[in-house]
Amino acid sequence: MKKIILTGDRPTGQLHIGHFCGALKNRVALQNEYNTYVMIADVQALTDNFNNPQKVRKNVYEVAMDNLAVGIDPKKSTIFIQSLIPEIAELTVFFSNLVTIARLKRNPTVKEEIQQKKDLFKDDVTFGFLGYPVSQAADIATFQADLVPVGADQLPMIEQAREIVRKFNNIYGNTLKEPEAKIGDFPRVLGMDGRKMGKSLGNSITLTDSEEEIKNKIKTAITNEVGAKNLLGLFEQFSENEEQIKEFNKQFKNSTIKYSELKPLLAEAIIRTLKPIREKRAYYEKNPKIVEEILFEGTKKARKVAKQTLEKVKEKMFIDYFKGKI
Ligand code: TRP
Repeated sequence: MKKIILTGDRPTGQLHIGHFCGALKNRVALQNEYNTYVMIADVQALTDNFNNPQKVRKNVYEVAMDNLAVGIDPKKSTIFIQSLIPEIAELTVFFSNLVTIARLKRNPTVKEEIQQKKDLFKDDVTFGFLGYPVSQAADIATFQADLVPVGADQLPMIEQAREIVRKFNNIYGNTLKEPEAKIGDFPRVLGMDGRKMGKSLGNSITLTDSEEEIKNKIKTAITNEVGAKNLLGLFEQFSENEEQIKEFNKQFKNSTIKYSELKPLLAEAIIRTLKPIREKRAYYEKNPKIVEEILFEGTKKARKVAKQTLEKVKEKMFIDYFKGKI
């Protein structure tokens, strides 16, 4: 039996090179070895976009195409839409008994996000947003995932999922798997402004940016200590020229580095890596029916798996009345 991966993206915008280095590369590489589920987390996206459902709807297809373009192969991996799996929502409700408000408020990623979303939440936060780590634990547990390839910002979510699963198993008997996280080898990509690269921060290089956009964005990148390390890290990720990578690192150490030399080479390396991805994406953009079909089939398959897990869960919780006949 193959081990299982579950991972996902919020459909709130196009995926960027931060996702690529942090999570997507791992996801594509591991799909041969693992039974892989890629979830389009539209329910989670609504936790901070409840007032903009059209945006989420549109980006479900964008994120699906991004995944297909980077090499997620629908023959090997199952791509599905979260909102069509009501079992995840059910498990979220059961899990919500196993976590306290204080624990949710301590989650550092959620804390930071609440700070960033002051415009939306004012001085408070919704029940749904504060609780999204619980729903994410349910995403993972519903598919009995062994491994979750994610960016570094997601580590607190996986930690919390492990705690919830452990508590569930302690109370109701051993049922669910404790997942492990797997982060990429350059998991904290910063934007050109030196803040964390983010879909909503306007500082990212997306997988579909044009050559001009990539060149211009890299040109504006800040080169203070953190900014410079970020550019060097990116160069290491995208360039295949080991000599140049070593040379720039050496120059950085003895402060002789010229960013006017590094930046165009970095832009070139990113452009070269993203070119086949852009081409593949263009194919799916021209064939939306194929994307629909992949999502339809993937979701049907995911639903079957989810039903099986929830059957087990309900049995253990003594709420298995009428054994699914109703
Ligand atoms: N929170 C993740 C993100 O913002 C997306 C996500 C939702 C996810 N459910 C998941 C990731 C389950 C891994 C596993 O990128």
